[in-house]
Amino acid sequence: MKNNPLPRLDIAPEVREQILPHCRLQSGETWVDLQGKHKVACLDATDKHAVDALLNQSQAQLAIADPPYNLIAFQETGVEDFISWCKRWIGNSIGVMHTNGSLYVWLGADQNNGFQPLPDFMIMMRDSSLKPRSFITMRNQRGYGTQKNWMAVRQELLYYTKGNPTFNIEAEYTDIPKILRGYYKQVGGTLMENTERGKSENIRAGNVWVDVQQVFYRMEENVSGCYAQKPLKCIERIIRASSNTDDLIIDFFAHSGTTLLAAEILNRRCFTADIDPVFCEITIRRLERYRNLRKLGWQNGHPFEPELGVSIFDSSIGDAHYQPLLQNDLFTNGKTTSGT
Ligand SMILES: C[S@@+](CC[C@H](N)C(=O)[O-])C[C@H]1O[C@@H](n2cnc3c(N)ncnc32)[C@H](O)[C@@H]1O
Repeated sequence: MKNNPLPRLDIAPEVREQILPHCRLQSGETWVDLQGKHKVACLDATDKHAVDALLNQSQAQLAIADPPYNLIAFQETGVEDFISWCKRWIGNSIGVMHTNGSLYVWLGADQNNGFQPLPDFMIMMRDSSLKPRSFITMRNQRGYGTQKNWMAVRQELLYYTKGNPTFNIEAEYTDIPKILRGYYKQVGGTLMENTERGKSENIRAGNVWVDVQQVFYRMEENVSGCYAQKPLKCIERIIRASSNTDDLIIDFFAHSGTTLLAAEILNRRCFTADIDPVFCEITIRRLERYRNLRKLGWQNGHPFEPELGVSIFDSSIGDAHYQPLLQNDLFTNGKTTSGT
């Protein structure tokens, strides 16, 4: 079997150097989809002028944000600076949201450092014009921790609304069968068990998601080189619940392009961006690959094979070396100690 992964591209300068000449976008540039649906921009999410130019008066019904939250880049300045950085891109996002729109933000809590920045972010958001609506927890299969603590397997997702946006949760069922019995209720004179009254054999999606498989290198949707890829399934769930066909979705932290791909699959439009030209290129290529081959990612390969060939990296290093680190793993400064 082919085994041709890329190392983590944010920390592999020699590989980045080979890739950068093949990236279509440089800072300040935008790729416009010939089919007229999507855009990908290389911009800084805190740059209001750049964000407004990308939107060009359009308004987004749904904003999804998955910023870097490991704080490694911010350690010298601390959580206050991280929060004021968040304020800037949150303000830019709210500024281009539709009067009836939804905002979802992925963020973490560092248990080794006062659980920041999640609570700080939540408090900061009280001063925004958005209404807090839900605090969702998604379970990862692989976690981190020590033998003297509970294994950390959670990813946190905050849901806020502006005005009165779409919410199609009625149709949103998990893959989890109804194995537990519910309470009884009188319906039309008959005493019915809770599970009998639901439409599906499966349970409805709530604010704890345990049915989403974390992306790892053997999955078709895997994009090697990316260190913080979100599973398509959870982004699709957000999109189905909080937007309608042809709605516009924004995501200014594109990385592997998951939101763009999910928007394409679900017939929405997406304007996405990343500050790094390498991740902008990966995002565009992921969409093109899906359109050409119906593939979701590069299982056992990588997005730059046409230029870099198939054997430039030492596969003798082994699979484990290339497993994408989660943002949560980064809280430990790379000292990941265990996993499921
Ligand atoms: C956690 S990743 C997003 C993962 C994405 N949801 C996915 O599924 O692939 C964060 C991304 O934000 C980008 N980024 C960091 N700072 C940024 C900024 N100021 N503006 C835009 N993008 C930024 C990074 O380059 C990185 O690709």
